[in-house]
Amino acid sequence: MKFKITVIPGDGIGPEVTTQARKVLEAITSTFDHEFIFTEALMGACAIDKIGNPLPDETLKQCVKSDAILFGAIGDPKYDNDPTAEVRPEQGLLKLRKQLGLFCNIRPVKAYQELLHNSPLKQQIIEGTDIVIYRELTGGIYFGIKELSEDKQIAFDGCSYAVEEIERIAHLAFKEAQSRRKKLTLVDKANVLETSRLWRKTVTRLASKYPDVKLDFMFVDNAAMQLILNPKDFDVILTENLFGDILSDEASVIGGSIGMLASASVGSKNALFEPIHGSFPQAKGKNIANPLASILSAAMLLNHLGLHKEAREIEIAVQKSLEFGITTQDINSEKNFSTDKVGDFIVDVISSPKDLNVNFDNIHLGQSTII
Ligand code: IPM
Ligand code: MG
Repeated sequence: MKFKITVIPGDGIGPEVTTQARKVLEAITSTFDHEFIFTEALMGACAIDKIGNPLPDETLKQCVKSDAILFGAIGDPKYDNDPTAEVRPEQGLLKLRKQLGLFCNIRPVKAYQELLHNSPLKQQIIEGTDIVIYRELTGGIYFGIKELSEDKQIAFDGCSYAVEEIERIAHLAFKEAQSRRKKLTLVDKANVLETSRLWRKTVTRLASKYPDVKLDFMFVDNAAMQLILNPKDFDVILTENLFGDILSDEASVIGGSIGMLASASVGSKNALFEPIHGSFPQAKGKNIANPLASILSAAMLLNHLGLHKEAREIEIAVQKSLEFGITTQDINSEKNFSTDKVGDFIVDVISSPKDLNVNFDNIHLGQSTII
């Protein structure tokens, strides 16, 4: 099959990890005889540097007409440390989400057996955890009215949600729960926020359409605690934009490294796939960043295109990289591989799965990955 894929490498480690994910997608095209037409586009701090706009019109146009978008990361310390900056890299990503209507952000969190010891949390607590966070992505406080008083002494960020915005993502989350362990937890702050009460009312009303799903509710402060006390109690979490942003970073600790967490942002027409780890500027250009989250995002991209068997091949290859310890330094500080070596290994597993007779000595000598 033929698909148009826009690649937005972005900032920091974005280009390095995206290069690996693209390499993996190219391996999939030759193994399964598909055709992916890749087009690179600018967004973020690099786009501000080049043309003064974090989301160039060209990029937006390109994204609109693509079947899927593979995105790296956004952000640069020179903006993070400057609250007065009028143009910020993140505006590019937020505008892209809004313009493409990518209202549903899906973030799977899994405790990989091989990485249990990597988490600062106790093994018996996290073992077996398998959660998917459904984060609303185009509403709430991120996109509300923003104001700063003339004397700059009072700032305001408004948060609003319409029933329709809640319904469309809630349907998707209920359906996801139906295909999993049939439990949906709505995380909100309904004891304080009006918007949260609207979420509860709306989601409760929809629940009757999904009688096989057990719906429960949790306040976000409690959810932040329960996520690391009893992560296995969660199946699908549904929540608003800001809470989802915070909880998904927290949940990444369960996975052993934020470098393992992939995500999909889907709307009614377009879809974007990105690792959740951000631009990690300290690692930029060092070839040390973990490419697995980006590679797993590529697997989510394939699933979105209906290429499930192909996506599964990537997931199996990632599993192998963990089993054989072909991972970057965030996962193993003593014995580790560079970003591109990990990518090479995944490509090798996909291209020649039958030859998967890994010679550890060779790998560690960096001579070859598979014999
Ligand atoms: C994320 C990021 C973004 C967000 C930033 C880069 C704007 O943290 O995707 O989680 O807050 O949504
Ligand atoms: Mg975030």
